[in-house]
Amino acid sequence: MRLKSIAVVAACVAALVTSQFGCSNDDAEPGGRCSPIDTAPRSRLLLNDDWRFTRGDPPGNTTSLAYADVKPWILPTGNNFLEDPVKRSQRPEGNFGTDVAYTAADYDDTSWQAVDLPHDYAVEGPFTPAVSVSMGQLPSPGVVWYRKSFALPGSDAGKSIFLDVDGAMSYSMVWLNGQLVGGWPYGYASFRLDLTPYVKLGGDNVLAIRLDNQIPKDSNWQSGSSRWYAGGGIYRNVWLVKTAPVHVGQWGTYVTTPEISAESANVDLKVVVDNDSQRDASVSVTTEIFEIDGDDRKLGCAVASIDPVDVQVPAGSHVTAETAAVIANPKLWGTGPDQKPNRYVAVTSVRRDGKPVDVYETPFGVRTLVFDPNAGLFVNGEHVKLNGVCNHHDLGALGAAINDRALQRQLEILAEMGSNAIRTSHNPPAPELLALADKMGFLIMDEAFDVWLRPKTELDYHLVYPEWHEQDLRAMLRRDRNHPSVIMWSIGNEVGEQSADDEGAAISQELTGISHQEDPTRPTISGMNAAKATSPFPAMIDAVGLNYQGSGIRVNPPQYPVFHDTFPNKLIVGSETASIVSSRGVYTFPVPPGYGIAVSETAGEDVVNRQVSSYDLYYPSYASSPDKEFAAQDRYPFVAGQFVWTGFDYLGEPTPFDSRSSYYGILDLAGFKKDLFYIYQSVWRPEHPMAHILPHWTWSERVGEVTPVHVYTSGDEAELFLNGRSLGRKAKAAFEYRLRWDDVVYEPGELTVIAYKAGTQWAMDSVRTAQAARKLVLTPDRPEIAGDGKDLSFVTVTVTDADGQMVPRSMSPIHFELTGPGEIVATDNGDPTDMTSFPSRDRKAFNGLALAIVRARRGTSGDIVVTATSEGLAEASATINAR
Ligand code: GAL
Repeated sequence: MRLKSIAVVAACVAALVTSQFGCSNDDAEPGGRCSPIDTAPRSRLLLNDDWRFTRGDPPGNTTSLAYADVKPWILPTGNNFLEDPVKRSQRPEGNFGTDVAYTAADYDDTSWQAVDLPHDYAVEGPFTPAVSVSMGQLPSPGVVWYRKSFALPGSDAGKSIFLDVDGAMSYSMVWLNGQLVGGWPYGYASFRLDLTPYVKLGGDNVLAIRLDNQIPKDSNWQSGSSRWYAGGGIYRNVWLVKTAPVHVGQWGTYVTTPEISAESANVDLKVVVDNDSQRDASVSVTTEIFEIDGDDRKLGCAVASIDPVDVQVPAGSHVTAETAAVIANPKLWGTGPDQKPNRYVAVTSVRRDGKPVDVYETPFGVRTLVFDPNAGLFVNGEHVKLNGVCNHHDLGALGAAINDRALQRQLEILAEMGSNAIRTSHNPPAPELLALADKMGFLIMDEAFDVWLRPKTELDYHLVYPEWHEQDLRAMLRRDRNHPSVIMWSIGNEVGEQSADDEGAAISQELTGISHQEDPTRPTISGMNAAKATSPFPAMIDAVGLNYQGSGIRVNPPQYPVFHDTFPNKLIVGSETASIVSSRGVYTFPVPPGYGIAVSETAGEDVVNRQVSSYDLYYPSYASSPDKEFAAQDRYPFVAGQFVWTGFDYLGEPTPFDSRSSYYGILDLAGFKKDLFYIYQSVWRPEHPMAHILPHWTWSERVGEVTPVHVYTSGDEAELFLNGRSLGRKAKAAFEYRLRWDDVVYEPGELTVIAYKAGTQWAMDSVRTAQAARKLVLTPDRPEIAGDGKDLSFVTVTVTDADGQMVPRSMSPIHFELTGPGEIVATDNGDPTDMTSFPSRDRKAFNGLALAIVRARRGTSGDIVVTATSEGLAEASATINAR
């Protein structure tokens, strides 16, 4: 089977349309026509500022707010995502929670903490042994409440008013003006609540939101609701959406591009029109398509128009208008060094009696995907290997609270490494990640679940799977299916059912069926670490995702060819690979030969300091080194590529030590590059001249000792020099990805490597022995940031000797101060064992580096000066300008 998928894309971003014209006549191409764009009463405003927050239910509360008891009121929120009307729930009569003090509109919450969203209440710590190590030992378990009051003018009369929550962790229950509106259990889901029946026009309205990260009944927090740090709070954006009663539904557009050639692209656009009013409505639906730039600005005049399609929408119902257009000479959305992520936006107007009642924007891209079981992925006809990483959603010291700049920084670092793909392990991501991926040309494996019915922890998703999986999966598919970056739907990760023959097959068939209904253009996949090629499970899923077993777990043979033989018509992907554990800048000796060894007390572990050696040859027993996975990918070129576990270190799930954060990242928790970065770069960016030496060369205690030197290079040969003496020139053999000089005897001085490609000098690198620490050096990643209370500058502190050489084992304690209109949001150093709370201004360096994350206060401008001091070292400061 050649599964040909179609193109599409875009965040179903409800438009904030205030402009009158798509372009000025100055923009018009010769002969182009710029027609006015409709304006409409739709508005979509962030509702992030000025919330109140507290922990726990009201003292003395006697009403059970357990999900099981409130469920009849919550289930109806998901009705639009249940195909079978019989499964939909009826909202009970009356109200619930009237006697719960915090729900009351007039409750005095002035003593609660003032917070802005997105907000992760747990990330500030302190770390506590009461919370499980796997959940990051941060205080996320428990009940919390948020409240916010906002005004609605009388002029909103007759409008439909919605609250769109991009994500709240978890079991949301939402009251407006004391009335329970609804909620949603899954903490990674985006959902909409219809506030219309409960709003108070011409006055203040009060939202009260209860979240519950359930605590195990025996109060032993060592068990929990997640295998990693899920965060806590309303950690994504919240929007207030106002529309006319007849309007485009939630995520109500679906774009596909079934035919694409150099001359034209056929665009099919389905538009769901909701009628919330009491009267039937006749409407016409028209769309104009524009090119957009990286800032979502329309370029020039419409490139295509869709003629009006008339539809009748019965009162209290919805209909789907099917429309189509042709874009001439389409600019394709693409990825990688040779393609550009060009995008379009479809601007859809709904008119009633000739007057626009809604205008809705759907950004999208035009691209072809071909999933070739024998050759992998083709994007717009070009073979593209998936050079992917798995990432959890936390942003290190910032926790789960979504931040555009922090996400963008992660993607920039990954792009520098040559990565072109991300698996959103193991849950639907923030919409902002997909928007950035669209703009930056990343490919996304969009994942719905880590768990189905069979639990991995006591309180995980299995508890709600039976009643919510259809709503959660359809919600993700509808929200994300217009994004060109999304190339496949992962319906689960290492679910227990993969080994349960009939049960596993039945569920994967059901979830694949739902995916095909919502989006027939992309394959489903599931990360399998245990299912065999002979299991019924993979047969029911479009593509094969192999976790670790593709290159062969331990001494077992690689499963890539086994699955390929069994499923010659299915694309195969290394959905989770490698999984080196390492601590930046730590090296232990001796160093194993070959492709490495399972990490243990005698292999790679620095047991005293609870760190792991960065020779990148140590992994959990089921995993492997990058070298072994690269070899498998090269031996079996039908494999479409891989997603490494993981791009960045993340909070929770530390292996092999009980620390605050993982050791799996190619980047550490602060976003600093480990050596691992360079082996991936050397393979994923073969045209980029680079060479990287490890380890560092400051080993006063190792004089005269064998200290292996490894080099990662995109060249094919290299010569190593120690203090000017050649230690030999070596060439990479077949299926070798590093050059190694394993018998180098340490002496202080300078190591230099000169790399060659096809016989010509290609790149070089050197490391020198550092002297005693003398100075701090501050380097902001961006010297200018917006004064919007969100934008960030990541300031790196380097401990150096008098010559400016980094001191690679410095653990100097650093103190940060800041003057000017900003704040230090968090500090870090990438040390998995550092249990200092993230907001602390005191942070020791970890192997020569530390990080301060700086933000300007909302609505301010001017110079923010960050100063770092450390006893005995020359202090340093850096200026960041807020605009
Ligand atoms: C995988 C799993 C990931 C993570 C990883 C740690 O099996 O899918 O979520 O737990 O192991 O190595």
